[in-house]
Amino acid sequence: PGLETVINALDFERIAERTISKKTWAFYSSADTDCYTRDRNKEFFSRIWWRPRLLRDVHTVDTSSQILGHDVGLPLFVSPAAMARMVHPEGEKDIARGCIANRIPQGVSTNASFPIDEIIASVPKDAKHPFFFQLYVNKDRSKSEALLKHVRSLGVDTVFVTVDAPTPGKREADERVKADEGLSTPMSGAQAKNDKKGGGLGRVMGGYIAPDFTWDEFKWLRKHWDGKIVAKGVQCWQDAKMCADAGLDGVLLSNHGGRNLDCSPPAIMTLLECQLNCPTIFSQLEVFVDGGVRRGSDILKCMCLGATAVGMGRPFLYAVNYGQEGVEHFIEILKSELATAMALVGITDLSQCHPGLVSTLDVDHL
Ligand code: FNR
Repeated sequence: PGLETVINALDFERIAERTISKKTWAFYSSADTDCYTRDRNKEFFSRIWWRPRLLRDVHTVDTSSQILGHDVGLPLFVSPAAMARMVHPEGEKDIARGCIANRIPQGVSTNASFPIDEIIASVPKDAKHPFFFQLYVNKDRSKSEALLKHVRSLGVDTVFVTVDAPTPGKREADERVKADEGLSTPMSGAQAKNDKKGGGLGRVMGGYIAPDFTWDEFKWLRKHWDGKIVAKGVQCWQDAKMCADAGLDGVLLSNHGGRNLDCSPPAIMTLLECQLNCPTIFSQLEVFVDGGVRRGSDILKCMCLGATAVGMGRPFLYAVNYGQEGVEHFIEILKSELATAMALVGITDLSQCHPGLVSTLDVDHL
């Protein structure tokens, strides 16, 4: 279908399900075991209700904001997701190009399908486009050290360290579909296929990830990275507080799109938990959220509950099915949905977001 018929994130997803290869769909859409978390991530947003304030002048609405010192057209970033080339030959490069117009920062996975050098080089230098590097800490720390040094030399100022994946989850859809002919994983040089024990692509690619990275090692990380550090994958307020006290620059509340531990909480529930139990976190570091965000109004709900910005993973993979143009179109859709939601709840600027604009009475006692 033509791009002009695509009017929301779900349209992109449905088209992807019909048009991309079986293995790619299985790898992207899959999640741990029974997929409760993946599905609830999205559903949970419907349990946060608005408390709109009316009769304000909402003639002009401004969606612009800031993320870790970068000006952005809306408070959104691309969550790092492996292997965007499985859906489109230009994968992560077209995601990058599609993000330029609204200055949306792109999280680049350690398991991206192009070397990060090539992804960064795919946008004009004078665009000064922000990239965040996602680090899976290697069992062999010296490999991570060399990688960090290299990435920093490319001008990247922020690393997202993924902390929720000491081992990958059991993604059964990915396990069932064995291989995509002709697709290779650049990280290993091997074909995109499962291993002999039946482990899916996630497991095949993640063999090097350290299962013994602990809090103490943020000191090691600081030694090898003089930019900003964000912990990705935090799932309760106590760990968020520990990130703040460890002096990190940000925390991404996330359950990895439900891909690692089924029945981990939707991130907006963790956000709410932080608001209720430890609101000082929000003045210590920037708090981000991802998982199940699909609408501009979802973005606004997170902002009202104290988030600095939100990330999206799968939606960008489904949008880049249409290449750069698809990504641009998708971001414009979200921006327009966000502006509409802002006007309807009665604000013109994101600095006016506050918890009083939402009702969480429908959320079980935390
Ligand atoms: C991911 N995610 C992920 N996270 C990470 O830290 N490193 C990675 O390499 C990947 N790879 C990856 C691949 C695919 C196919 C998906 C769908 C996800 C998780 C990602 O960053 C993010 O947390 C979730 O995708 C957010 O959920 P939604 O937006 O997909 O619902």
